[in-house]
Amino acid sequence: MKPSFAIVGCGRVGKALGKHLQAEGYRLAGISTQHMESAGEAARAVGTENFTVYSWEITRNADIVFITTPDGVIADVCAQIAQHNGFKNGAVVLHCSGAHPSTILSSAQGSGATVGSMHPLQSFSAEAAGNTFKGIVISVEGDPKAVSTAHQIASDLGADCLTIKTDNKVLYHAAAVVACNYLVTLQDAAFKLMEEAGISKKDVFSVLYPLISGTLSNIEKVGTVKALTGPIARGDTETITRHINGIREKRPEILNLYMTLGLYTIGLARTCETISDSKAEELSKLLKQEK
Ligand SMILES: NC(=O)c1ccc[n+]([C@@H]2O[C@H](COP(=O)([O-])OP(=O)(O)OC[C@H]3O[C@@H](n4cnc5c(N)ncnc54)[C@H](OP(=O)(O)O)[C@@H]3O)[C@@H](O)[C@H]2O)c1
Repeated sequence: MKPSFAIVGCGRVGKALGKHLQAEGYRLAGISTQHMESAGEAARAVGTENFTVYSWEITRNADIVFITTPDGVIADVCAQIAQHNGFKNGAVVLHCSGAHPSTILSSAQGSGATVGSMHPLQSFSAEAAGNTFKGIVISVEGDPKAVSTAHQIASDLGADCLTIKTDNKVLYHAAAVVACNYLVTLQDAAFKLMEEAGISKKDVFSVLYPLISGTLSNIEKVGTVKALTGPIARGDTETITRHINGIREKRPEILNLYMTLGLYTIGLARTCETISDSKAEELSKLLKQEK
């Protein structure tokens, strides 16, 4: 028989876990949120009649407790449950934050629970349909028993598991933010420049999409350094100068980003040896000029 589980903080990630773990035979002991109204709504979404704003009422008998509240309150919520004797001896307590280590759950260890973190490398939105865990990577760390439980959960959800070091979580999470959130930021800047070039807002995505997906495919095949093309890889200072002038005139708020990314890109071009040291110097001077 699969273990029972409780979800404390049942928003985007909590609901996804609630639905898909039940589909895999895990028994949902109940859910809790901060407000009664959202608890009722979340309970309907995951299909349980056990909901509360007093977390310890639904965690007390659960084999696994997920604390899927916003990052800033995970430690306090865990301590509050521990104070109310809300963890059963031998329970596994997991949070899903990418930035924080499992040690923020240490208050649960006093009740004989083991603790871990289980971070799905996925962007969960309220509208997400289907099993959003399938095929993704879930990174885990923590006490050995918690890590082994998290491995089993990841495998049951159809995800691959990556074990990371507790101390390395900050840089791991920074990498995920750059890869996901800043990709969105980058595309937003590209879309705005495309609109300034006269392409209608509704068309910018389809115009740029083949370029974006082709670039991702090149990175997959040959890695970032060899995938680099464009004016910096060619050492084309004249084109870069024209870009700087054009952006300064029409979209000055993007210039800082363009120049900072350009400076980083010079390093890639040097690693690939497509430009000389003197060309790198020239480009660097151009991209460090006053904005
Ligand atoms: N969203 C993502 O794409 C994503 C991806 C990977 C990992 N994560 C991680 O997953 C965790 C949850 O994120 P989320 O996006 O699912 O959050 P969310 O949608 O904002 O949901 C947070 C839930 O926590 C509840 N809550 C807030 N404060 C609480 C408290 N003091 N006590 C009990 N419940 C409380 C909220 O209840 P009310 O609605 O009543 O306030 C809500 O149900 C975070 O650690 C996050 O870093 C998120």
